[in-house]
Amino acid sequence: MDKLIIEGGETLRGTVDISCAKNAALPIMAASLLTDDTCVINNIPALRDVDTMVKILRALEARVERKKGSVVITGRCRRVKAPYALVSTMRASVCVLGPLLAKRKVAEVSFPGGCIIGPRPIDLHLKGLESLGAEITIKSGYIMAKAQRLKGTKVYLGGHFGSSVLATANTMMAATLAKGVTVIENAACEPEIADLANFLISMGAKVVGHSTPTIRVKGVRRLHGTNYNIIPDRVETGTYMIAGAITGGSIFLKNARHQHLLAVIDKLRECGVSIAEQKDGVRVKGRIKNRIKPSTVTTLPYPGFPTDMQAQIMSLLCLADGISVITEKIYPERFIHVSELSRMGARILVEGPNAIIRGVKNLSGAEVMASDLRASAALVLAGLVAKGKTRIHRIYHLDRGYEKLDKKLSKVGAKIHREKD
Ligand code: EPU
Repeated sequence: MDKLIIEGGETLRGTVDISCAKNAALPIMAASLLTDDTCVINNIPALRDVDTMVKILRALEARVERKKGSVVITGRCRRVKAPYALVSTMRASVCVLGPLLAKRKVAEVSFPGGCIIGPRPIDLHLKGLESLGAEITIKSGYIMAKAQRLKGTKVYLGGHFGSSVLATANTMMAATLAKGVTVIENAACEPEIADLANFLISMGAKVVGHSTPTIRVKGVRRLHGTNYNIIPDRVETGTYMIAGAITGGSIFLKNARHQHLLAVIDKLRECGVSIAEQKDGVRVKGRIKNRIKPSTVTTLPYPGFPTDMQAQIMSLLCLADGISVITEKIYPERFIHVSELSRMGARILVEGPNAIIRGVKNLSGAEVMASDLRASAALVLAGLVAKGKTRIHRIYHLDRGYEKLDKKLSKVGAKIHREKD
């Protein structure tokens, strides 16, 4: 397994090109199953999770070709079974459930299960689809769903932790081909859901209210092919913002959308980081002479502070001049990075969903283990500023969600390289 070696202490300067959003690309690729026509999706990032979605679509016998950063999908699939071997490696695989059910009237999708960031139930996915008239059973680890033509309905999709991104995606996709109008209440407002809605609209779907908690879908008989560009990745953007901030550097994030990161920008400004919206992107400048100020961060559904940026801001707050508190309200157990950051000299105490961070002046390089995608990004950020060498093992997690991370960081001056096994 590849490792990343980082020699900390470089000040990052230059431009990083932000890739398109993984979490928009994956459901959008699945949504191509809603038509027999061809969909061209542009600027698809070169990521392992995208490769996994390609494999799932091919397992369904959809036609998928990759051409210079685009993926061309003809969703006329012959199979309806998404197998365990693929679904178990990526949660977003569950997004094929809604489209298969709506278009093919039957779907068999392996149960995605929990993962290292905590339990990840699918009750809201099932609630959304059942309320549209699907009959669902769980058999031998598979979600077996069937329906004649789905029927429009009103459904409230709030759970114990608020709205659900992919349950909203599944229900909205299924509703596009249902008979009549579907109203999804407490729908997720994440930009990736709005992007999926825009993709569906470009296929002829009738969707309004996306980006708000009430999405209305008027079902149509058929959808057609399209050619679509995906939005820039807000979590990648936020991660590079912190790379600039933590190294006291100055980075321009090309293509970044300021508007999608208001909660992150607000917190970074509170810490003393300067962030400016510019034409075509965002510029971030870290504090050069003074230490970062401490802060309190609570993760919430969009437009609140994203759970997918919690680990990264923790790395920054490890170096703040005082005590910070992070409260994780989406995945209360998502603190797997704490033990590895502690190995680098961080002082963090976890109590339930709260992490209390006593800022230290320096971190020191160490051997650390990447565990999940965002936790791994946090270790890279810590490594950029730690004294000495940090060796990050098992970086395949990073390759799932950050396109060319080592190359992008080297380009702005980081001393980072990949060691192949
Ligand atoms: N939840 C339920 N029931 C459900 C579904 C979710 O209780 O049926 C709970 C979850 O356990 C969690 C909360 O609702 O406490 C929110 O989970 P959500 O369903 O919104 O998560 P997701 O849709 O499975 C997406 C992203 C995650 C991101 C979360 C939260 C994709 C492919 N994944 O997952 O991204 O953390 O939304 O914003 O879009 C990542 O990119 O590293 C990542 C984990």
